Amino acid sequence: MQSLIQQWSGECVITTFDHETGTWIFIAIHDTTLGPAMGGCRMKSYPSPADGLRDAMRLAEGMTYKWAAIGFDLGGGKSVLAVPAALEGEARRGLLRRYGGLVASLRGAYALGPDLGTTPEDMALIGGVTDHVHGYDRRTGTALDPGPYTALGTFVGMRAALAHAFGSPDFAGRAVLIEGVGDVGAPLARLCAEAGATLVLCDAREGRAQHLATELAVRTVPAEAVYTTPCDVYAPCAVGATLNERSIPLLACRVVAGCANNQLAEPVDADRLHARGILYAPDYVINAGGATALPLLGQGWSADEVRERIRGFEDTLTGIFEESGERGESPYHAARRMVERVLESRREERGR
Ligand code: PHE
Repeated sequence: MQSLIQQWSGECVITTFDHETGTWIFIAIHDTTLGPAMGGCRMKSYPSPADGLRDAMRLAEGMTYKWAAIGFDLGGGKSVLAVPAALEGEARRGLLRRYGGLVASLRGAYALGPDLGTTPEDMALIGGVTDHVHGYDRRTGTALDPGPYTALGTFVGMRAALAHAFGSPDFAGRAVLIEGVGDVGAPLARLCAEAGATLVLCDAREGRAQHLATELAVRTVPAEAVYTTPCDVYAPCAVGATLNERSIPLLACRVVAGCANNQLAEPVDADRLHARGILYAPDYVINAGGATALPLLGQGWSADEVRERIRGFEDTLTGIFEESGERGESPYHAARRMVERVLESRREERGR
């Protein structure tokens, strides 16, 4: 953990150990150039605490780019509750309350929302301890699930990718493989099915994939077959780093467009995909629907207004694909230049 912190380009990590549950808590704050840090809270078991810390750091960095990409005055942060095993009932609630207390003590330097392993209901519980939480309506106490908004952004982003790769944004007859049918993958599958895609589902929890596949009358593949199954679009919608040195040579798709955070194990994986002729939709752009929705719904925007704004991702991604196409490079680079321009101009304004 020492070397991870030493080598990190981010601002700081707040770390503590929850004795009651044996959970390591990490709040990683990557870059606050644009504003105070905001990002989801992930609850997951990791092989070691260092793996949880690494995840928090990588996710926080992704949030910096995500806020810059969608033009919000917020900074990159993320927290990880590295639980020893799945927690339920009072143990889980106790952990969330103590974690909420830690967030409260930061007085707005970091605000959270749901992420993999946490729910809008969890946000309501944490909301009893701190104001710096998104994902539920404080007045009514009802959950505001960002999942369907993230799914919508991913769906319109896929349209842009299909148009770039095949000359038409039409889903009819296109095979889309969705890996991970949780809070985002499931609504995304429904949108793709409605649009006429030929769906293939896959989930580490096979029963979950099977259940949705039966409802939508589509096929599933086992987790081992996810990379090798031929498809037009591979949509990583679960954990990160599924695009790596080992998986990329196996891929049998033309497009990678999914909603998972940190899909690339390392930046060169973008070039590896490009070298194989696979179009990559940069994760923090295509999956920014939830990040767009949470602050705006909190400010009183209607669901329709928020959806309209998220539909604009189609043009953003089209612009990224066109720029990278002209330069003969991965869209990863065009997206990075776009966010670096935003961050750089803010740094300059500050310097003056
Ligand atoms: N966890 C989701 C994401 O990474 C949604 C979220 C966005 C949660 C912003 C909190 C803050 O986009």
